[in-house]
Amino acid sequence: MIETFITIGNVLKKIRESRNLMLQDVATQTDINFTLLSRIETGKRLPTKEQIERLSVFYNYNKKELLKILISDKIFDEVKRYTAIDISLEALQLAEEKIKYQAYLFPRYEIEDNINLESRRYIGNKAKLTDWIMQVIDKETTDVKSFVDVFSGTASVAKKAMKKYKKVIINDILYSNYIIYQAFFKLENWNKNKLTKLLHYYNSINANKLQDNYFSENFGNKFFEYNIAKKIGFIREDIEKLKKDLKNKEYNILLSSLIYSMDKVANTVGHFDAYIKKPIRKTNFQVKLIKTEDFKGVEIYRKDANELARKITADIAYIDPPYNSRQYSRFYHLYETLVKWDKPKLYGVALKPKPENMSKYCTVKAKEMFRDLVQNLNVKYLVVSYNNTYKSKSKSSENKIKLEEINQILNEVGNTKVFEQPHRFFNTGKTDFVNHKEFLFLTKKYE
Ligand SMILES: C[S@@+](CC[C@H](N)C(=O)[O-])C[C@H]1O[C@@H](n2cnc3c(N)ncnc32)[C@H](O)[C@@H]1O
Repeated sequence: MIETFITIGNVLKKIRESRNLMLQDVATQTDINFTLLSRIETGKRLPTKEQIERLSVFYNYNKKELLKILISDKIFDEVKRYTAIDISLEALQLAEEKIKYQAYLFPRYEIEDNINLESRRYIGNKAKLTDWIMQVIDKETTDVKSFVDVFSGTASVAKKAMKKYKKVIINDILYSNYIIYQAFFKLENWNKNKLTKLLHYYNSINANKLQDNYFSENFGNKFFEYNIAKKIGFIREDIEKLKKDLKNKEYNILLSSLIYSMDKVANTVGHFDAYIKKPIRKTNFQVKLIKTEDFKGVEIYRKDANELARKITADIAYIDPPYNSRQYSRFYHLYETLVKWDKPKLYGVALKPKPENMSKYCTVKAKEMFRDLVQNLNVKYLVVSYNNTYKSKSKSSENKIKLEEINQILNEVGNTKVFEQPHRFFNTGKTDFVNHKEFLFLTKKYE
């Protein structure tokens, strides 16, 4: 029995012997006293965490594994003092519950792998094109200090612009995007340790023990696996309860971390116009913290683009509007509902609230709006993204403005050059985009 007992001493001895090392060699190399090391291997002493660290480096052995054995030795040492085995076992069970449910009390817990801004499924996002876009801009413009991304979406282009320009203005009509921008970019103090502990607590909750809530009742087993939906609903409610004790930045970071983490387990092809009609696989849902990108020169708006144009000035305006009839506020209604948390009545198979923030760029008015926008933007350069999806087979993917029309409207306000790049982009499979190309118009506005 004792022979097979997994103790830290036994394990360290086995590792050493498997490497054909003498105790003296290890002692010298790790700077741990020979006698002490011998006592550790024979179980007369327990190593410190620091000694475990050194041994794991020296043996190139998994540190977590060694720590786990050490902690189990310590627990065992403690409980074996009590003769009644049932007391020991019950104490262990209680300790396990404490670890699971009150883990947020642990002071230095780290959630690894923070989530990047680009790590999000979003229709029409330009994350893969930002290098090309910025290269073109770099080559074609001079004396630029400020940049406005009028239809920011994920803000991947704006983030890139922050590496170059002093001031970057971000804007989108969606509430969820507005929250996300503040979370990622707004320069405000926040307590990472506090949020990490809170997420650790959320991640330790057993969803089976949670009650049904607005989120699970509406979206459970549709957009999310039932227990995951319950957990999301619980977390959202809890964040709202905590709001009064949180800084704005902390509140926004929590909501954004929830959105980015939800995206990883959503039962969709990347938007909430529909969910996949197959049984949903049970997966592990973990909320991870977003990786913030604080930027001193950021200005953030949630305005209609044409209204914004009349309010701000910048050197460059980057314009990437929706080009077809499919409304972003309908694609991402679930995040809008989550962020606003006004628990609206929902309609239809895709459980959408009443329409809000409907964009004129998705209607027959698109051309008129675009002309009004480029005329009213008080900037030196206009940079417009466009892709040739208007040849697509699906009606809803057809572009509201044609390539030639964009060209013509831009030429009315300045000298315009066109750049192009092949690009495979996000679609749900219905549309066959042959020769799909991404265009970039660069217009130097007339004085
Ligand atoms: C093609 S996406 C932009 C994608 C973005 N460049 C990226 O890399 O993620 C268009 C964005 O415009 C926003 N939008 C639509 N109509 C708008 C309007 N009238 N004013 C402001 N934003 C609008 C949508 O919510 C959507 O996020």
